Amino acid sequence: MLVGVPRETFPGERRVALVPAVIPNLKKAGLEVVIEAGAGVEAGYPDAEYTAKGGTIAAERVEVFRDADIILQVLCYGSNDVTGKADLPLLRKGQALIGFLRPLGAVVTVQTIAETGVTSFSVELMPRTTRAQSMDALSSMGTICGYKAVLLAADTLPRIFPMLTTAAGTITPARVLIMGAGVAGLQAIATARRLGAVVSAYDLRPAVKEQVQSLGGRFVELAIEAKDAQDAGGYAKAQDESFYQKQRELLGQVVAQHDVVITAAVIPGKKSPVLVTKEMVAAMAPGSVIVDLAAERGGNCELTRTGEKVVEHGVSIIGSINLASAVPYHASQMYAKNLTNFLLNMVKDGKLTLNMEDEIVRSTLVTEGAEIVNPRIREFFSLPAMVTQS
Ligand SMILES: NC(=O)c1ccc[n+]([C@@H]2O[C@H](COP(=O)([O-])OP(=O)(O)OC[C@H]3O[C@@H](n4cnc5c(N)ncnc54)[C@H](O)[C@@H]3O)[C@@H](O)[C@H]2O)c1
Repeated sequence: MLVGVPRETFPGERRVALVPAVIPNLKKAGLEVVIEAGAGVEAGYPDAEYTAKGGTIAAERVEVFRDADIILQVLCYGSNDVTGKADLPLLRKGQALIGFLRPLGAVVTVQTIAETGVTSFSVELMPRTTRAQSMDALSSMGTICGYKAVLLAADTLPRIFPMLTTAAGTITPARVLIMGAGVAGLQAIATARRLGAVVSAYDLRPAVKEQVQSLGGRFVELAIEAKDAQDAGGYAKAQDESFYQKQRELLGQVVAQHDVVITAAVIPGKKSPVLVTKEMVAAMAPGSVIVDLAAERGGNCELTRTGEKVVEHGVSIIGSINLASAVPYHASQMYAKNLTNFLLNMVKDGKLTLNMEDEIVRSTLVTEGAEIVNPRIREFFSLPAMVTQS
């Protein structure tokens, strides 16, 4: 079978779905690889490195889609809502498509993908289990985003992060607050600590307290408790508005005491909760920085403008989207490894075999035979359950 990797087309996207180093593993499993010319260049992987590892280069994008049995992308249509639609006529029945599909975004989008007949898999739906850990692209990208968010904050803050005792006096360390201690938040804690900041973190899931502390962070405890803070998959559950209101009241003082706030609090498929109001921003010291990693889904800060950096009340608010693309070499390396592990789990004797008994396959499969076949997506969009599933 042939695996095809088109060049990413989302504006500013620099990642690539496969890196040369994984090609030998795919070949060992009986898969060949074709890459669209120049697909890896922006991530630091020139065409010659792909051919050196046994891949072939296709001059035209249409050739990749025409010849490949399996298409691997970073941002497929769905998550690529700017240019992704152009690929739809290139997809065909029975072909497999794997990548970020934003499956809980808009039902019409998922339906349009289904109508192409493609067998699509969304990496966002990977179960958070030990066996699926090596295939978990959300964790990989979260790791990169958490790291990069701290660097952006450090670059913007008019202070330095570490404490210094110098002949010119003592410099106090920067105080950094991380809100939402999932994968990205935990990596942000670790990165800010490495730079010498004093780090606090808050999450509505009490289960993360120990993880925060093990990274050298102080866990902020608020006098409210979330109801059923997390679901069976380990994700936070949405709370009612009275909870969020109380949360904001209690967080006000905490935010004002910090030079940097990095927010990474999201609920799968939902608009991000507002944790930092405009009043809280106004109470921060001038020169402070907020990096809002939830910007893509509305943001955790009321004054965030998606995709922009703004200054309000003297506070810089960074609402960058697609931060993982800003570290394309390692983001692509991690993503390629995740996709390779995912693919190899489904390839038997050089053929793609969908074992619906396998939770990994069952959870990630989105469309097949022109239908949305994923029960979680159907339930989310209130589509009737399917009677039979192929
Ligand atoms: N294979 C595995 O076992 C595996 C792999 C990756 C992640 N996980 C776990 O899955 C969970 C989700 O990780 P993620 O990084 O994808 O999370 P995420 O990106 O969905 O959410 C980020 C964080 O925001 C927090 N949050 C949401 N609303 C909030 C609010 N109002 N106030 C404060 N915090 C709020 C969540 O609790 C979460 O910790 C974590 O427990 C993580 O450790 C497990």
